[in-house]
Amino acid sequence: MSGVSFDEVTKRFDDVTAVDSFTLDITDGEFMVLLGPSGCGKSTALRMIAGLETVSDGVLRIGDRVVNNVEAKDRDIAMVFQSYALYPHMTVAQNIEFPLKARKYAVDGTEPRKLTASERAERVTGAVETLGLSELVKRKPGALSGGQRQRVALARAIVRRPEVFLMDEPLSNLDAKLRAQTRLDLVALHREVATTFVYVTHDQVEAMTMADRMAVMTEGRLQQVGAPQAVYERPANLFVARFIGSPPMNTIAGEVVEGNVVVAGASRIPFVGQASPGRSVVVGIRPEHLHAGEGTIEATVSAVEWLGHERHIICDIAGSKAIVRQETDEGAAPALGSAVRLGHLAENVHLFDAESTDRLN
Ligand SMILES: Nc1ncnc2c1ncn2[C@@H]1O[C@H](COP(=O)(O)OP(=O)(O)O)[C@@H](O)[C@H]1O
Ligand SMILES: [Mg+2]
Repeated sequence: MSGVSFDEVTKRFDDVTAVDSFTLDITDGEFMVLLGPSGCGKSTALRMIAGLETVSDGVLRIGDRVVNNVEAKDRDIAMVFQSYALYPHMTVAQNIEFPLKARKYAVDGTEPRKLTASERAERVTGAVETLGLSELVKRKPGALSGGQRQRVALARAIVRRPEVFLMDEPLSNLDAKLRAQTRLDLVALHREVATTFVYVTHDQVEAMTMADRMAVMTEGRLQQVGAPQAVYERPANLFVARFIGSPPMNTIAGEVVEGNVVVAGASRIPFVGQASPGRSVVVGIRPEHLHAGEGTIEATVSAVEWLGHERHIICDIAGSKAIVRQETDEGAAPALGSAVRLGHLAENVHLFDAESTDRLN
């Protein structure tokens, strides 16, 4: 087992900087999720760990070893991709055994060597049991569902007992129900194999539900790293605030006035924290922290979305779209086009500088 550390790592492709001065310590045994929108550099970061991309600048370590110039085959990692790439002519068992035949392993803590047939069989059986594939070992991939293929791909990675386990959007091809189940399975797998996981996704729900810590990225740069709840409760800047949470955090531009209040149009929004009067800010309030009825925020209702257990009141606050999340037992929804007052607690206000977009409170 090993951690992974990026020290000011940059990756350039000609004129594109895919990963920009990226610094992150992934601790031994941690489930780290790299989260961000498409094109932000997540896969490139992962591929550098795997040795599939070179490092343009900075230092990359796996454990204590600098791996900038270590070839992929000499790194003790296993990677699972979105496309599982199983061998169609091999059975499930043969697919899982394949990486054990293809390379040498340092089993005795000494020189890497080829595994014996019984060592291979033992590892395959272990992986098959861990991933619940016992009934399927004799089938070929063509006779498996998408979810089963995905589990075979995971088994084929864990048989190697790598120091670090890398996954690039491995759930993207699964339907919503199977994705939800597989999230639970991956968390259980991580607990069982107790290996460092680095998992790439653009899906904040995957990150929130599985990560020990998540590293939020945009445009090649790390924005914030922390436990999902910590990042949700204290986003470091507007990008993170808007990216994490569904429906997303409401953001309203305004100006700070005396007495810890932001004025936005006709609304007054008290907050907790330090910000000097006159400062241009963006206020963030999560949909679950706004309440229709009484309060100092003036809004106009533009739509109501009913979701069964809850509804979203979509309104306009000082020219910004905002969403109020209500339990459906909170009485009738306000009428379309009506004016409503919205209440909030000052401690639930996130304050961001309008220019730098950094958190102020
Ligand atoms: N081999 C490559 N050659 C040129 N540009 C690349 C290459 N791989 C990735 N990029 C660019 O680097 C950026 C980050 O890509 P990527 O790491 O795949 O993002 P993500 O996985 O977050 O969607 C993108 O702008 C992408 O177009
Ligand atoms: Mg990618």
